[in-house]
Amino acid sequence: MAKINCLNPIAACGMDLFNDTYEVVDDFAAADAVLVRSAAMHDLELSDNLLAIARAGAGVNNIPLDKCAEKGIVVFNTPGANANGVKELVIAGLLLASRDLMGGYNWVKENASDENIAKTVEKQKKHYAGCEIMGKKLGVIGLGAIGAKVANIGFRLGMEVYGYDPYVSVDAAWRLSSHVKHIKNVEDIYKECDYITVHVPALDSTKGMINKDAFAMMKDGVKILNFARDILVNDDDMIEALASGKVAKYVTDFPNAKIAGVDNVITLPHLGASTEESEDNCAVMAVKEIVDFIENGNIKNS
Ligand code: MLT
Repeated sequence: MAKINCLNPIAACGMDLFNDTYEVVDDFAAADAVLVRSAAMHDLELSDNLLAIARAGAGVNNIPLDKCAEKGIVVFNTPGANANGVKELVIAGLLLASRDLMGGYNWVKENASDENIAKTVEKQKKHYAGCEIMGKKLGVIGLGAIGAKVANIGFRLGMEVYGYDPYVSVDAAWRLSSHVKHIKNVEDIYKECDYITVHVPALDSTKGMINKDAFAMMKDGVKILNFARDILVNDDDMIEALASGKVAKYVTDFPNAKIAGVDNVITLPHLGASTEESEDNCAVMAVKEIVDFIENGNIKNS
């Protein structure tokens, strides 16, 4: 009987796919296969019987890939399974960066008991005025499952979309997102765009890529969206760029002690894939990968 451990609970519709030849165990060390969402696994001792880890999500930066490679542990993820959920939140981020929804909402909440609130609204409008996204230039860095979807919706919202991805050929980028101007140098995204959204994995090569050198190339008042990973942005440089007005808004799904609470930063608690649909899709895909591996030796999405 194969032993399965869930480091983080995953959606029930995934767990239901395990038949009675599988046993779900609490003991991580006893497991043949582990399911994980975003729990950090770097400090965990990987037992010799562990065969596979399936990450119910796209990013695998919480998994010690080097140790897994040494021990021959197969690592799966679920690319694309939550792309729609993340894409929709990115679009919300685009609007949050453009219209002062938070300011307006907070004002109404604070004044909710004022019986003259309806009369005072007129005076507030100018405080919370924003800008429209139609006609603006959107730069999408990374044209994978999420980036390509964001690019397409940006286009449908009337934006001029620039896409950059060193690993996607011009032809593939065109197929993925036919409305994207495929840019060969990321610098051109920095120079041209009013909004820049990053959709690349957390790697040594992408760490801190949004930094003072990148800001120096950007337009004044650029708006930055980060729904990919915290480490892509150099926080000190971002704080400086916000203070100088180079960056007008930074919307990030990754709060940390440095950036949360800084003016013109909107932080969410990593909600990108927190939808019922995305959680279900990831759970089903992760469990199918484990089952297919244990029963047939197949290795997909590893
Ligand atoms: C992912 O890597 O799939 C997303 O960041 C969402 C998540 O981690 O839950």
